[in-house]
Amino acid sequence: MQSDIKKVLYSEEQIKKRVGELAQEIKKDYEGKDLLTIGILRGAVMFYADLVRELDRPLHMNFMALSSYGISSSSSGAVRIQYDLEEDISNKHVLIVEDIVDTGLTLSYLTKTLNSRNPKTLKTCCLFDKPARRKVDFRPDYIGFQVPDVFIVGYGLDFAEKYRNLKYIGELMPEVYK
Ligand code: IMP
Repeated sequence: MQSDIKKVLYSEEQIKKRVGELAQEIKKDYEGKDLLTIGILRGAVMFYADLVRELDRPLHMNFMALSSYGISSSSSGAVRIQYDLEEDISNKHVLIVEDIVDTGLTLSYLTKTLNSRNPKTLKTCCLFDKPARRKVDFRPDYIGFQVPDVFIVGYGLDFAEKYRNLKYIGELMPEVYK
């Protein structure tokens, strides 16, 4: 697994520190408000678990799953909900927690879909942002790190379902995905 990694971009410590900072920001913004968080399966699972623990305040946790890249490293452009919420989000403060925004197609589709269900507010928190690859205009409300246009894995992020359990974020060797 390690031999497929070109270099470590963010260490476990760097990720932990940034997740803590994001949690402080979010905590301040939602003070005194009920909060429903939605973790997007499966890439955000590590980030989500760490973020909600750092939030250290009452909140609800729920999950959604969206279609991913499968075994390719670029999006097909089509987004599909594979697992939907059973909960009514109308009149609630909703925060989507996602691993990475790349072309923006997934989150722009998801926020449109969830906004049509009339939440009181809807915001997005992404650990990674790859602005160079954007195809639609989308900006998350909270961003952990801006990353260059390279394929990253670890801390929940995969390539063909591998590398999710790395503790750090690594740049994948191009020969693995090209
Ligand atoms: P978007 O719809 O192109 O913004 O893609 C979002 C999804 O693509 C993320 O939730 C990831 O599953 C996947 N993705 C995009 N870039 C990477 C990457 O560098 N590593 C791993 N997954 C990625």
